Amino acid sequence: MSPLRWMITGAGGMAGRDLTDELRSRGEDVLAYTRAELDIASPRALGAIIRENKPSIIVNCAAYTKVDAAEENEALANAVNGSAVEFLANAATAGDALLVQISTDFVFDGSQRTPYEINDETNPLSVYGKSKLLGEFAASHADKHLVIRSSWLFGTHGPNFVEAIRNQIRKGTTPLRVVDDQRGRPTYTPHLAHAIIRLAQLAQQSADARGTVHYADAGDCTWFDFAKAIVEESGATVDVRPVTTAEYPRPAKRPAYSVLSTERYERLTGVEPESWREGLRDYLALKP
Ligand SMILES: NC(=O)c1ccc[n+]([C@@H]2O[C@H](COP(=O)([O-])OP(=O)(O)OC[C@H]3O[C@@H](n4cnc5c(N)ncnc54)[C@H](OP(=O)(O)O)[C@@H]3O)[C@@H](O)[C@H]2O)c1
Repeated sequence: MSPLRWMITGAGGMAGRDLTDELRSRGEDVLAYTRAELDIASPRALGAIIRENKPSIIVNCAAYTKVDAAEENEALANAVNGSAVEFLANAATAGDALLVQISTDFVFDGSQRTPYEINDETNPLSVYGKSKLLGEFAASHADKHLVIRSSWLFGTHGPNFVEAIRNQIRKGTTPLRVVDDQRGRPTYTPHLAHAIIRLAQLAQQSADARGTVHYADAGDCTWFDFAKAIVEESGATVDVRPVTTAEYPRPAKRPAYSVLSTERYERLTGVEPESWREGLRDYLALKP
């Protein structure tokens, strides 16, 4: 078998940077493109790069990720998260590459109270969630595709909830009021990178490992629980109080429950998800 060549789009983003760094640290052959280097909404540029470089695996980490702003920018969200994935799917098929599309727990409406399995009904509540679901459909048009849904990402290369809470701590905000009626699985982006690499290698070898897979770190919690863990692990002594979503309205509606079942991931890889709490400790050690 010829060695794998990886191509990463959105390589300047939070997940894209950690994935690129992980692949490079393993000595893999990686072509990584930031938004400035490759706009995925440009089919011509995409086609040319893929034809020229012949990647075997394309991981699309590029996305319009501003969940609240998307409510007012539907066309842009759909163009980047939907139509551009169609271009990627076509180019991947033409180049006989596996397309790996990163998706989100926000494709679910949160009405369940048991973890979401890969085939559970999708029903996104927000423009962002709808646009990401369009991206899933688009990716599925590639001959070889893998859709990896993840949730509540935090990593050292982008704005995220951990940093938002630490900013409040630095400002001396007390008490900290954090929503306690949305439950999910926080995921540290280097852990997601490990999962993407494992799953993509399997999907490259076997059609049985393609389709949709969920990866999220071990343990579910509410944003309030997550904030308490951030305060504790930071050694801060801030009072954290639970509030309801109704008390903290945002433009985009979020699912109240978006715990992803990682059963298929565990079955395919034989590996348990890593711990978000340990990811949080690693994050704080890297970015004290
Ligand atoms: N963050 C979460 O909690 C979360 C949860 C579940 C799933 N996800 C999914 O995980 C993936 C990675 O998210 P992330 O948190 O790493 O987001 P991110 O930090 O916002 O990274 C996305 C990257 O895509 C780039 N981009 C935007 N439009 C582009 C275009 N037309 N062409 C090329 N690049 C473009 C962005 O550039 P600019 O910054 O210059 O716009 C950014 O560097 C996304 O698919 C997201 O939907 C995220």
